[in-house]
Amino acid sequence: MSNSNGMVLAGSGYCLPERRLTNQDLVTQVDTTDEWIVTRTGIRERRIAADGQTTMYMAVEAAKSALADAKLAPDQLDAIIVATVTPEQPLPATACLVQAELNAGHCAAFDISAACSGFVYGIVIADRFVRHGGYKNLLLIGSETLSRITDYTDRSSCILFGDGAGAVVLQQSPDAGRGVLYHQLHADGKGADFINVPGGGVRHPATAQTLADRMHYMKMKGRDVYKFAVMRMHDLIRDAMANCNLTIDQVKLIVPHQVNQRIIDSAIERLGISPDKVYVNIDRFGNTSAASVPIALHEARLRGRVDRGDTVILVAFGAGLTWASAVVKL
Ligand SMILES: CC(C)(COP(=O)(O)OP(=O)(O)OC[C@H]1O[C@@H](n2cnc3c(N)ncnc32)[C@H](O)[C@@H]1OP(=O)(O)O)[C@@H](O)C(=O)NCCC(=O)NCCS
Repeated sequence: MSNSNGMVLAGSGYCLPERRLTNQDLVTQVDTTDEWIVTRTGIRERRIAADGQTTMYMAVEAAKSALADAKLAPDQLDAIIVATVTPEQPLPATACLVQAELNAGHCAAFDISAACSGFVYGIVIADRFVRHGGYKNLLLIGSETLSRITDYTDRSSCILFGDGAGAVVLQQSPDAGRGVLYHQLHADGKGADFINVPGGGVRHPATAQTLADRMHYMKMKGRDVYKFAVMRMHDLIRDAMANCNLTIDQVKLIVPHQVNQRIIDSAIERLGISPDKVYVNIDRFGNTSAASVPIALHEARLRGRVDRGDTVILVAFGAGLTWASAVVKL
């Protein structure tokens, strides 16, 4: 066990289902317009998993691509962490199912349930495992099939969410200056009812009545979540930069949870940060919860906006309520 290790990004990947759900498609399902959705959220389309495509399926596809990028075999992994609020099934952890699919031997495997903050929680956990736990190779995945818990009769929430997965392979490095340089992880359970799925757990197990009451779908207080998210996005970025003595020139890219274009714009405008420092793909993929940050990070790499060795700020917030930031030298 050593305190002198750091963590590097060895590879990344994503899986995005082919099927697109456009605003025009939603107009045929609920009382809304393309103009309303674009103006309020910035979203134009989202990806939707086909029948048979699940959280595990997308996690495995994203993982294979991240492992190929890292040139690592699955049996070299020491741990698999899956961040998700749409697990394959209540038991066992989706990470265990992913491990079996990948033939990743008997490495540690567990899920994190921190909603949209899950990937940022996960990268901080991974960094601690690598830095202080002797773990050498970790696979961290955010994977969500939100379309299966989205109520497509509720126009205020169904416009927001999409499916997908993003994965990173994180590796121990002798350079202690690489990895998570600073983080904040928080939660406020008093805001649990801002975004929740009331049915299907042990409080309200599945019955004909819970199904009839649509309790297995996500419920959201949109306005309250909006105010919370704007404030957190602003405060998390400002705090991360101040605590690391970072000027915006020293930050290659800010990769925020893809929550809502207006929330992102409002936060960065108040911080005086130029939009080209912030990676946004919400117009094409909507909000994919724990998958949103790793999908954005991988796409930013594919587009040459960021790479290994760069300093990035990851910020996210979501159900719980949870919120999290990480300054990472990739
Ligand atoms: C959901 C959200 C887009 C709604 O935008 P808003 O400007 O806050 O709108 P409001 O909820 O105040 O509703 C305003 C009006 O638009 C209506 N409306 C809601 N959804 C609509 C839709 N899809 N199309 C047309 N009108 C809609 C409402 O019914 C309301 O009408 P009323 O004034 O007649 O009652 C916005 O609150 C939001 O993005 N919140 C954050 C949600 C989120 O990101 N959740 C995940 C967090 S990780």
